[in-house]
Amino acid sequence: MTHSDPKTVEDAAALLRAGQLCAFATETVYGLGADATNADAVLSIYETKGRPRFNPLIIHCADLAMAETLAEFSPLARRAAALWPGPLTLVLPVRLGNGLADVAMAGLDTVAIRIPDHPLALALLAAVGKPLAAPSANPSGRLSPTTAFQVRLGFDGRVPVLDGGPCRAGVESTIVRVLEDQLVQLRAGAIARHDIEQALGLTVAVADKDAAVAAPGMLVSHYAPNASLRLDTTPKAGEAYLAFGKAQDFAGPTRNLSPSGDLHEAARNLFAMLHELDGLGTDMIAVAPVPDRGLGEAINDRLQRAAAPRD
Ligand code: TXA
Ligand code: MG
Repeated sequence: MTHSDPKTVEDAAALLRAGQLCAFATETVYGLGADATNADAVLSIYETKGRPRFNPLIIHCADLAMAETLAEFSPLARRAAALWPGPLTLVLPVRLGNGLADVAMAGLDTVAIRIPDHPLALALLAAVGKPLAAPSANPSGRLSPTTAFQVRLGFDGRVPVLDGGPCRAGVESTIVRVLEDQLVQLRAGAIARHDIEQALGLTVAVADKDAAVAAPGMLVSHYAPNASLRLDTTPKAGEAYLAFGKAQDFAGPTRNLSPSGDLHEAARNLFAMLHELDGLGTDMIAVAPVPDRGLGEAINDRLQRAAAPRD
């Protein structure tokens, strides 16, 4: 341990203002935060995570006024921003001279912004008074953390954490690119596409998987536990079992994402249960089918990346 964890929002804000990293709770997953206007601070996010430099970061804002200093808001963007604070990240045209470190945006002419819906994250952003770049607080390519404990485990206690308890949503924000007259989902996430459509009264297109506009960080193998995964299946002897809904009888280690088949509960449990089963040292985790509706879209996206072949 080379640090002690901040006990208060003020302690965490002081670290961040001094150009240090500090992980903090959001409603989706824990973020590894840095002052987004400080290039050295942002670079240490990439170093700490082992993250490719071409993969831009989400910029977290305290409020809409702060967000408006960073990006150009069209009428459509303003309409979408009505869902803030919340687990929705908007990709918008960069506002010139916005003061953000170029490395945070990885040289793109768009910037990904959200206002998190978590009292501690909002208090921290207000106390720092600056936008915070914060990717999920895990080594690049690994499972996202939904508790402070998992953050400490992932970085061997090298990163201070502002503990806000377990994350309510459990998967990352939904990323939507705002085009002139259209919203395009780049990453399924904690707010279901259908719910965005209902709330805003418009349709949300889905980015073609191969399209260049897709989030550059959407690597095929991602969110990977140590164990391998078999999806849409039933467990065999010697495996671990990640069930959903009515689980079949199984003698081996088992977790159930949601015995009642609730997709919100399943999203909240997803990374935590993968972490738990992985921690048992099992080689293979068999995962039950999860329906693709609502939040199932985000859950299946993460499962497919976790199961993808790695090099
Ligand atoms: O819920 C979340 O979104 C969490 C919490 C901490 O807020 N953050 C998170 O960040 O998941 P990260 O860095 O793990 O994922 C950010 C994704 C990456 O896939 C990145 O490529 C994409 O956002 N992204 C960032 N800027 C972008 C841009 N200008 N255009 C398209 N995609 C962008
Ligand atoms: Mg991530």
